[in-house]
Amino acid sequence: MNGKTVHDADPYWQTYYNDAFQFGMGAEDILQALAAVPAVHTWCDLGSGSESLLWSIPLTAHHLIAVDIDPERLAILSRFAARRQPRPAYETALTLCNRTRADFAQRCRALAGTIVADCLASPALPLAPASTDLITQFGLLGLTTDPPHFLDAWRRAHAPLAPGGWCAGANWIPEPSRQHGRVALTDRLYRHAFADAGIRPHLLRRVASSDPQFPSLWLYLGRKQ
Ligand SMILES: C[S@@+](CC[C@H](N)C(=O)[O-])C[C@H]1O[C@@H](n2cnc3c(N)ncnc32)[C@H](O)[C@@H]1O
Repeated sequence: MNGKTVHDADPYWQTYYNDAFQFGMGAEDILQALAAVPAVHTWCDLGSGSESLLWSIPLTAHHLIAVDIDPERLAILSRFAARRQPRPAYETALTLCNRTRADFAQRCRALAGTIVADCLASPALPLAPASTDLITQFGLLGLTTDPPHFLDAWRRAHAPLAPGGWCAGANWIPEPSRQHGRVALTDRLYRHAFADAGIRPHLLRRVASSDPQFPSLWLYLGRKQ
């Protein structure tokens, strides 16, 4: 089940996080929140698309697995990681996070594998239970269709999280004409999802965005009990 992602692989790669860093659309808030996550060994980014390496900048992770339904986006990510060169927006992210180009190259090397999988449909993810120290998703779970679908996808997304492991993510809220067919995200729904998966929320906040198509986003961090 491929949710209604805003652009196909290549236009997405060209539109977001490419040229100048677009301040005011939530990315700097996400980078700042991720800086609070301690160093981890194994990180899994679900619905990663081509962008895991942007979110890798404030994180310290030894081993990254990127999961997406779209092999084309994962191929873009793998080619980019092999080059070890940040794009202009990533350069700004490095500066914001006090990281160097050498740090970026290290993050590229941490990409240990990619997995093509549907993270929003019923089979379990191809990751062992309690095998992962950090699970993230940026823009994936907001593609679910309603609260039961969100809760079910959240539960399966976090099943591979080890006790004491961290989760982090963000979901953009479309303007009303684009909301059709997407879950309505609320504080209450996130808290239900956290409780259901045995995760204690450390941050849950709605952030305003200057993007007219997606005027706000939810941002969270949590820790598995
Ligand atoms: C809004 S994009 C976000 C991409 C990336 N995480 C980022 O921060 O830019 C949503 C991503 O979810 C992926 N996706 C959509 N439906 C999916 C599904 N059912 N299972 C796994 N990935 C899915 C899309 O291919 C796309 O890469």
